[in-house]
Amino acid sequence: MNITIDYYSKHAADFVASTQDADMTSLYQKFLSYLPTAGQLLDCGCGSGRDTKYFAQQGYKVTAIDATPELCRKAKELTGQDIICMTFDKINWDRRFDGIWACASLLHLPKQELPSIFNKLTAALKPGGHLYCSFKYGDFEGERNGRYFSDLTEKTLDIAICASRLIIIEQWKTEDVRPNRNEIWLNTILAEVER
Ligand SMILES: C[S@@+](CC[C@H](N)C(=O)[O-])C[C@H]1O[C@@H](n2cnc3c(N)ncnc32)[C@H](O)[C@@H]1O
Repeated sequence: MNITIDYYSKHAADFVASTQDADMTSLYQKFLSYLPTAGQLLDCGCGSGRDTKYFAQQGYKVTAIDATPELCRKAKELTGQDIICMTFDKINWDRRFDGIWACASLLHLPKQELPSIFNKLTAALKPGGHLYCSFKYGDFEGERNGRYFSDLTEKTLDIAICASRLIIIEQWKTEDVRPNRNEIWLNTILAEVER
């Protein structure tokens, strides 16, 4: 088990309590505006299951994955659906999803692993499908408060996707929606393009 999954296993209850009620409305609206009604979604690193629950309530068919067994259990309790307990590197779907939602999750990968994971996510998208991802803004990479983080800027995200069939459709920065958090987030919506 890596330090990040170990951290989430030990702090699952606190993590769920601090994130499950976060208001993600404006992010949902932007992402869903690119998707067909009742489309197939992958919630990639679903944590508490907050977003899986919302998307399912909106009529989307949601597959949810997370690498932390304790969070998978909690997300199942919240959503009433099975959560696949797996790491991003095991993703092997072929043209399955209209959209992939990777909210604050890929940020735990080392930067050097991002290109191959973006390629796996691209392969899992239907042609023309869309991917949302968010990273903390900056250049830091390494352990921070018990978890591994790769912060990104516009430039380093470009580097991570440059070998993929993804293009940036929209990119914007936001403040953390949780109170008393001085963090800036880099939000990006990408689209799969046939090359
Ligand atoms: C900051 S939380 C975000 C959770 C949720 N998406 C949200 O926005 O509240 C990061 C999540 O990614 C999961 N995660 C971290 N590394 C992972 C990996 N390599 N494969 C799959 N999930 C991973 C963690 O278990 C955790 O649930």
